Amino acid sequence: MKSNLVYCGDCIEIIIKNIDEKSIDLVFADPPYNLSGNGLRWEGNKTGGNWYMVNEEWDKMTNCEYLQFTEKWITACQYVLKDHGSIYISCTYHNIAEIMVVLKQLNFKINNIITWQKINAMPNMTKRVFTHSSEFIVWAVKGRKWIFNYAELKNINPEKQKDGSLKQMRDVWSLPLVQGNERLKNEDGKSLHPTQKPEEMLKRIIIASSNKNDIILDPFLGSGTTAVVAKKLGRNWLGIEKNIKYAKAAQKRINQNL
Ligand SMILES: C[S@@+](CC[C@H](N)C(=O)[O-])C[C@H]1O[C@@H](n2cnc3c(N)ncnc32)[C@H](O)[C@@H]1O
Repeated sequence: MKSNLVYCGDCIEIIIKNIDEKSIDLVFADPPYNLSGNGLRWEGNKTGGNWYMVNEEWDKMTNCEYLQFTEKWITACQYVLKDHGSIYISCTYHNIAEIMVVLKQLNFKINNIITWQKINAMPNMTKRVFTHSSEFIVWAVKGRKWIFNYAELKNINPEKQKDGSLKQMRDVWSLPLVQGNERLKNEDGKSLHPTQKPEEMLKRIIIASSNKNDIILDPFLGSGTTAVVAKKLGRNWLGIEKNIKYAKAAQKRINQNL
């Protein structure tokens, strides 16, 4: 099976057709959260600049369709994961319920629910609920022999003990939303992808649950973050992205990160 490829198309079809059973060491999946549709926007926001709620065609399903979609793609990932493999799924309060139900139905073991605390979260424009400033990453495993590179994680943990010595990595990660040079832009200067994930997040996940030359699958590649970080860390990767514009942008970003 070839690796280090961006496939353009539907991840369920591509996984079934092109990826061998039990061939993948680690899956990172950042699926549609199913929160688009209301077109909320806030232009001229003084604290964080213009704000647009994600509003993309790939992110609009009924609740029933979304549960079925979640079942299908997680089942496909389970088929290609090795027995010691891990799956990390990024989600928010919108879709964590469906993801947890499906993982439990498929007999995955849940190891952690990591909280991403967004230190530069946008203010809440409705002023009717607490400001949303977190997302989650569910880490689940197939069998009992999962990889966890504990010592390496301690080494890269920016948090230290009071005396400056190394500290265990906790399950709350305080990281900013992607901005500055890391953020991919269109020619008009707007963000190329609405949900580009921080490279630091992928670095922690890849170091935690894979080793050099392992193969990592991202079924919802988006702007290519997983592939770029996998390549930097000496891992092989496969990425799948349905939208041709994002697939091309991801390929370009990967080629530039030689
Ligand atoms: C939440 S975004 C992923 C963002 C990515 N983690 C990044 O850092 O850029 C989800 C992506 O999945 C893609 N997508 C949606 N449905 C898909 C499907 N069935 N198969 C493959 N890709 C899909 C969307 O086009 C979108 O780019």
